[in-house]
Amino acid sequence: MNNEIIKLSKISKKFTRSSKDVIVLKNVNLEINKGELVSLTGPSGSGKSTLLHIIALLDQPTSGEVFFKKKNFSQSSDNEKDLVRREGISIIYQQNNLLSDFTALENVIIPLVNKGYSWSESTEKAKKTLSLVNLSKRLDHFPSELSGGEQQRVAVARAIITEPDLILADEPTGSLDSNTADEIFSLFLKLKSKNRAILYATHNRELSNRADYKLNILDGNITRKNE
Ligand SMILES: Nc1ncnc2c1ncn2[C@@H]1O[C@H](COP(=O)(O)OP(=O)(O)O)[C@@H](O)[C@H]1O
Ligand SMILES: [Mg+2]
Repeated sequence: MNNEIIKLSKISKKFTRSSKDVIVLKNVNLEINKGELVSLTGPSGSGKSTLLHIIALLDQPTSGEVFFKKKNFSQSSDNEKDLVRREGISIIYQQNNLLSDFTALENVIIPLVNKGYSWSESTEKAKKTLSLVNLSKRLDHFPSELSGGEQQRVAVARAIITEPDLILADEPTGSLDSNTADEIFSLFLKLKSKNRAILYATHNRELSNRADYKLNILDGNITRKNE
């Protein structure tokens, strides 16, 4: 299928700490296609973040191959991976990692400027994107002047402004109360598009059930549950 965004083939991941091995992923195969909204569940320490980092080309598997839009990145240089990430992959973390010395608007502008857009064009687009997440009235607020939910909405705006093919979210609502978590999740539903895949790790059963399908990690294995 040419809808494929991610393919993992026989991925294993092992961390070695003071000569003790922690095996996190065992021979994982996975395919995620355009248009899919997918949740990733599993107990704390089961490997959700590890898997997301491997998919984001931020971490190397111990063995196996990672494909992004059909290209095999197993042997690629850091430069190549940086480039494809900048062009096509966005990550949202539990703690939003906004730059504290920059306003909401500037935080959202930066990824576009990094991609080579002019400052004025980036500003226009950032304003539109912040209006999509209902933050038009907070453009010049610094992160410390925003609520947790507002900060996370800025992080979502920052992640989508480059129109990535893939959005990865690592427990994006983990530090939010349930109403605010719901608001952020509604944004994911709004961002669902036939050209994009969204994969989000969550502890929240209710939110995970709202995906097109669920992936669960347990003991290094991933299983898919349709619901
Ligand atoms: N850099 C590392 N070195 C050693 N062990 C690690 C490292 N990163 C993660 N781990 C271990 O791998 C397992 C999976 O971690 P993680 O992917 O963060 O789980 P989750 O996100 O599901 O809570 C945990 O047991 C963790 O302790
Ligand atoms: Mg984690």
